[in-house]
Amino acid sequence: MKHYKIVILAGDGIGPEITASATEILKEVSKHSDIKFDFIEKVIGGRSIDLHGTPITNDTLEVCLSSDSVFLGAVGGPKWDNVEHDNKPEQALLKLRKSLGLYSNLRPANVFKSLINSSSLKPNIIEDTDILIVRELTGGIYFGSPRGKDKKRGWNTLEYSKNEVERIAHVSFKLAQNRTKNLVSVHKSNVLESSQFWQDIVHEVHTEYSDVKLTDMYVDNAAMQIIHNPKQFDVIVTQNLFGDILSDISAMITGSLGMLPSASIGDNHSMYEPVHGSAPDLAGKNTANPVAAILSIAMMMEITFNEKTISSNLYQAVSDALEDGHGTADIINDESLSLSTTEFTNIVKEKYLKILTKQLEGSK
Ligand code: IPM
Ligand code: MG
Repeated sequence: MKHYKIVILAGDGIGPEITASATEILKEVSKHSDIKFDFIEKVIGGRSIDLHGTPITNDTLEVCLSSDSVFLGAVGGPKWDNVEHDNKPEQALLKLRKSLGLYSNLRPANVFKSLINSSSLKPNIIEDTDILIVRELTGGIYFGSPRGKDKKRGWNTLEYSKNEVERIAHVSFKLAQNRTKNLVSVHKSNVLESSQFWQDIVHEVHTEYSDVKLTDMYVDNAAMQIIHNPKQFDVIVTQNLFGDILSDISAMITGSLGMLPSASIGDNHSMYEPVHGSAPDLAGKNTANPVAAILSIAMMMEITFNEKTISSNLYQAVSDALEDGHGTADIINDESLSLSTTEFTNIVKEKYLKILTKQLEGSK
């Protein structure tokens, strides 16, 4: 029996609803395997501010540090808009990423055939798109100092060290080696010294991965190219802020921000979360799209627990559910046919079981 300790940080807004879907799926996985999950639930973000006066307590951080993996729903909402900067819900996320050393953030965007008409982009443009954005997550302008604001100005610092660029470059080249061996390094080296430095280091690291084709692209052009011709991309590696922006753009290829999962990986820890936010207007309505959360669990199975079959079965279960025309309101054009969060999750569970049954019969 494998035994894993998973910290569950549901967070705010739709966070608890999509997190419930994620844990349902983990329980289903456990039911049909030799894996047992212990869930440790902790509050984070706005709820933690309300209860403990801080977006993340030391206790929560400690528990995450001693876990096998972390699942996070979403944090933030208008209720905490006026909280002082250092105490905002989002700070919990940044502190977790930094404290757990989660420097590589993987954000895949691929198109499910059944949803080809849900995107605002033309089907022939997005068909067969399969992009993996590797976002540097613990450096750059998000964390640089000095930072601050006073009555006359506001300032932040964009800085990258050699080690920070090297390690994310290694991760990206290795991922590209296992895909179609194309890596695009996105920066703004025509204007920023920090980007020239980034470019130089990525090229240095490239000498160790001669089988991968490396292309440089300015971030403004990359934003345009992702919409213009997304199929040209395989793996994209980029800095923290650029990755934040480009991953929202690439989400639109998939039809909804509710579709995009993510993995945040460091040398010793990992955290999985949907790319979407807390969507306060949808909170409590049982209408949020749980696909990003479920696919984040699929990523957890593959990357942290090396359970590749479980991972691909989960992905297939989501795909089969969508293929049958099921989905939440954000991806289903006819509102009368859209499902609730829990209904859709149940269908994914049924599909997962069907896949397992079929595999079992096949192996007899
Ligand atoms: C994301 C989010 C976060 C970020 C916010 C909530 C701090 O937008 O994960 O993309 O900017 O990194
Ligand atoms: Mg973002």
